[in-house]
Amino acid sequence: MCGIVGYLGEGNVYDILIKGLHRLEYRGYDSAGVALVGNDGKINIFKTKGKVSNLEAFCADKCLDSKVGIAHTRWATHGEPSDTNAHPHYSEDGNIAIVHNGTIENYKLLKDALLQHGCKFHSDTDTEVLAQLIEYIRVTNKCSLLSAVRQALKQVVGAYAIAVVEKDNPDTLIAARQSSPLVIGMGDGEFFLASDATPFVEYTKECVYLKDGEIAEIRRNEPLKITNLDNVEAEIDVTTLQMSISQLEKGGYPHFMLKEIFEQPDTLRDCIRGRVVERGARININGVNDHKEKFLNAKRIIIVACGTSWHAGLLGKYLLQDMCRIPVEVEYASEFRYSNPVINEDDVVIAISQSGETADTLAAIQIAKNAGAFVFGISNVVGSSIPRETYSGCYIHVGPEIGVASTKAFTGQVMVLTLLSLAIAQLRQTMTQEQIADVGKAVLKIPTYVKRVLELNAKIERMSLIFTYARNFLYLGRGYSYPVALEGALKLKEISYIHAEGYPAAEMKHGPIALIDREMPSVIIAPKDHLYEKIVSNVQQVKARGGNILAIVTEGDTEISKLADHVLEVPEMPECLTPIITSVPLQLLSYYIAINKGKDVDMPRNLAKSVTVE
Ligand code: AGP
Ligand code: GLU
Repeated sequence: MCGIVGYLGEGNVYDILIKGLHRLEYRGYDSAGVALVGNDGKINIFKTKGKVSNLEAFCADKCLDSKVGIAHTRWATHGEPSDTNAHPHYSEDGNIAIVHNGTIENYKLLKDALLQHGCKFHSDTDTEVLAQLIEYIRVTNKCSLLSAVRQALKQVVGAYAIAVVEKDNPDTLIAARQSSPLVIGMGDGEFFLASDATPFVEYTKECVYLKDGEIAEIRRNEPLKITNLDNVEAEIDVTTLQMSISQLEKGGYPHFMLKEIFEQPDTLRDCIRGRVVERGARININGVNDHKEKFLNAKRIIIVACGTSWHAGLLGKYLLQDMCRIPVEVEYASEFRYSNPVINEDDVVIAISQSGETADTLAAIQIAKNAGAFVFGISNVVGSSIPRETYSGCYIHVGPEIGVASTKAFTGQVMVLTLLSLAIAQLRQTMTQEQIADVGKAVLKIPTYVKRVLELNAKIERMSLIFTYARNFLYLGRGYSYPVALEGALKLKEISYIHAEGYPAAEMKHGPIALIDREMPSVIIAPKDHLYEKIVSNVQQVKARGGNILAIVTEGDTEISKLADHVLEVPEMPECLTPIITSVPLQLLSYYIAINKGKDVDMPRNLAKSVTVE
């Protein structure tokens, strides 16, 4: 979490930093701050609780001239969101300022030692400890800032991306990373630094992704230099960005979330492109083609992910088991990593992550690699850590997702998992050519069908008014619709702060049925599939207890439509493709309920888009 921006060059430092912070605000928005190094040998630090707009208002009458600067938008881990705990943090003598993304796990130990040396602390953060430690080393060892940063980082246990500036040194910016992302934009006589490339995409497309354990020395009018913690110089590997500025704007929509929901026909088309060939008859996934043996010999597949990506993973289990007849386990990455998992060399581990930076998922990948498994990544952000850490993989190609609540990334992940399952089935011959072609042809129709589902928008907006004041929701589904229920409930709670539980519909009678009354709506996902008759009974059970039902059904449905209080109809699809179709109305429903409640849907409280801490 948290967004870091840095700039060294002849441009307007403050403007570049603030604009960059706005782009990274999705990563955290508890507080924001800037440190500006001027020619007068001073560092000016301005920071405020709340969003970047608060910081801008605060800075309106300040002197903002500078040659180099760093900025931060925070997602608090150590210490409450407040002006004092906001970054940048500075050393007690005011010589250096630092911004940090991540957590310093041994901060207490380091802090106690520094206290004994007479250091005084102003904030509750782990970050301030690092600032004081760097400066303490610099002064005690009479060394350069770079050397002090290197020595300090050798003492640190935890995750960090940092940027550091020094008072008398407007020509230098030092940055380092370990388990938190950082990328350097290479301009003409200027350098940008950021947690992802979005803050500098309009200035330069050339960038260098810093790797774990690397320190970048950015100096005015000098080439970029990267070394590791042992001062061994690394090669500079320049990447060209594919991102465009229009992808980062709202394009006329009031919120990124709504824009991203409506982008889905296009994002799904991009996701499918080149992967379903010969008019649907053949599936072509490079990440599978290049490692056929691994997929042919796999005895088991383990899927690791968090949040919405975990829900996509659960759908992956249904898809892979159905199509490939391989046993599949789906694990929360945070649990998997500490569960002493049994992993074999003939396991394929699939890690799913929109951001490609989720700390728990990255840790799970490491464990799987250490155990000798083949690790395959499904990610959205090109060049992020997960695609770099996995042996092979597949991008979902849905473009930058800015809204904190994942929408188009979820459908993209499910689409990739569907195609992956088909590709493995093709390879292992667990489906006939005809069966593959039937699904392949339907996949090609998905973008058009999602477009049709989006025509429900006005109806869902009206319907949302009925549900806005409910305090609890139950989301129910069976088979392929069960993970959709989990995802629908998560979407609602994330952005409207209404309590919602997703449940397998048949499991309801083992407990949650006790909650049902007229006040608690049940959203029941019930497309025409092989469990349809079963879910009809579950609908009846809710009805018999006076429950209020919103059902998502297949066009032309008569049975459930008669029982439910409200109905949304979606086009008919092969069963394995229904999740993409049924999850879209649920995204819209949660969006409108949150809007009716006046919530900030793009930046819901307490959340952040990229979870780079444990
Ligand atoms: C989605 O709406 C959530 N904000 C969250 O659950 C998210 O899916 C999770 O943090 C995982 O992120 P990742 O896909 O970037 O790894
Ligand atoms: N651990 C630091 C803090 O709480 C940084 C958190 C972040 O990544 O924003 O301030």
